[in-house]
Amino acid sequence: MIYLLVLLVCVSVCPVQALDNGLALTPTMGWLHWERFLCNTDCENDPDNCIREKLYMQMADAMVAEGWLEAGYEYVCIDDCWPHHQRDAQGRLQADPKRFPSGIKKLADYIHSKGLKFGIYGDVGSMTCAGYPGSLGFYEQDAKTFAEWGVDLLKFDGCYMNDMDMLEAGYKNMSKALNQTGRSILYSCEWPLYEWPHRQPNYTAIRQTCNHWRNYNDVYDSWSSIQSIVDWTATHQKILVPVAGPGGWNDPDMLVLGNFGLTHDQQQSQMALWAIMAAPLLMSNDLRDMCPKSKALLQNRRIIAISQDPLGQQGYQVGKAFGFDLWERPLSGPSLAVAVVNRQELGGPRAFPLAIATLPSWQVCDPKCNVTQILPTYQELGVLALDGKLVFKINPSGTALATLTRIK
Ligand SMILES: *[C@@H]1O[C@H](CO)[C@@H](O)[C@H](O)[C@H]1NC(C)=O
Ligand SMILES: *[C@@H]1O[C@H](CO)[C@@H](O)[C@H](O)[C@H]1NC(C)=O
Ligand SMILES: *[C@@H]1O[C@H](CO)[C@@H](O)[C@H](O)[C@H]1NC(C)=O
Repeated sequence: MIYLLVLLVCVSVCPVQALDNGLALTPTMGWLHWERFLCNTDCENDPDNCIREKLYMQMADAMVAEGWLEAGYEYVCIDDCWPHHQRDAQGRLQADPKRFPSGIKKLADYIHSKGLKFGIYGDVGSMTCAGYPGSLGFYEQDAKTFAEWGVDLLKFDGCYMNDMDMLEAGYKNMSKALNQTGRSILYSCEWPLYEWPHRQPNYTAIRQTCNHWRNYNDVYDSWSSIQSIVDWTATHQKILVPVAGPGGWNDPDMLVLGNFGLTHDQQQSQMALWAIMAAPLLMSNDLRDMCPKSKALLQNRRIIAISQDPLGQQGYQVGKAFGFDLWERPLSGPSLAVAVVNRQELGGPRAFPLAIATLPSWQVCDPKCNVTQILPTYQELGVLALDGKLVFKINPSGTALATLTRIK
């Protein structure tokens, strides 16, 4: 508890300087193909799900028609497996001509015409993870190509780069190259993910270089994957929480709600915890065919408001007890988001009694606060004082989420 308070003081008085490109002042929201569509290039046998321009055009259509853009999801992003295996005669990256016959610029134009932003993928090393051309030795040229195409976001992977000093230099050089194009391009890095196995990354430098950064393993469509990411983040929160803020965010990877692997309770847990962790909300799912309950959860305005809170402070785990994890995230207002996860994958719903005075940020209820429960169901819980107590009833692997707002 003591270190948490120290950490809070530090967040408010000694924020690390962020990459100065005016972007990602709140966590990025959008859609990214990887977890759901992977490196499916078999357009002959699987035309609806392979990586080709039609997939992104259809997602862009759905983003606008189905209320995603209105809810805040703005970026439509390509991941690996879009390029041709060879650069062109001038050494420029080019899209696979069979799968992207109109070219990337036309696709970007289409996505822009819908009022959306367009993201693409590259790699700091000699090849991408799936073996397509990497940008090593081509940072300036590739940045220029992306800018000419109208790219708004670059996800820059870290495969095929084994020297950690070169990895750092590569991410920094690409950041500089993007800046020098004069186009505002959000820069999504995987630098710390690749550096952790060798040494502790320098998050001061990372925050100066990138708008968000992957720290840990790729997300899978499973509750065990979500739990491992959340637990890793909690274990490293002393390092991670102070470096998040407007302009730069820790990235625990994509939202997988709306796919196959999570129950509805587990989907509520991912959505709540990604909002608490001030994580980019990049969905990877099929927007053309989405369960209405998943859609309602992903578009839940109250959860999105927590994610996008202008204070931009990342939440943290307060403690664990009786098979529950307790998290809080200070919000502007002042207000506080509280999440309680039932980690017991056994039995039925269990009650978690939360005494306000035990929260590190109890001051938000001094003298009184107004409580809104958002998950598992929306409910106005009324006014509480410092000696107040909340009782949440939570399904196995589900999460209760609430906001506490100071009343003067
Ligand atoms: C490039 O960096 C400078 C200073 O660091 C900043 O003022 C400028 O807005 C940046 N330009 C772009 C396009 O990101
Ligand atoms: C980064 O840029 C510096 C300065 O131009 C250069 O010396 C270095 O080799 C570059 N590193 C990489 C990995 O591109
Ligand atoms: C981390 O990066 C910052 C900013 O680039 C630099 O000033 C600092 O010396 C670095 N820290 C270490 C331990 O290398």
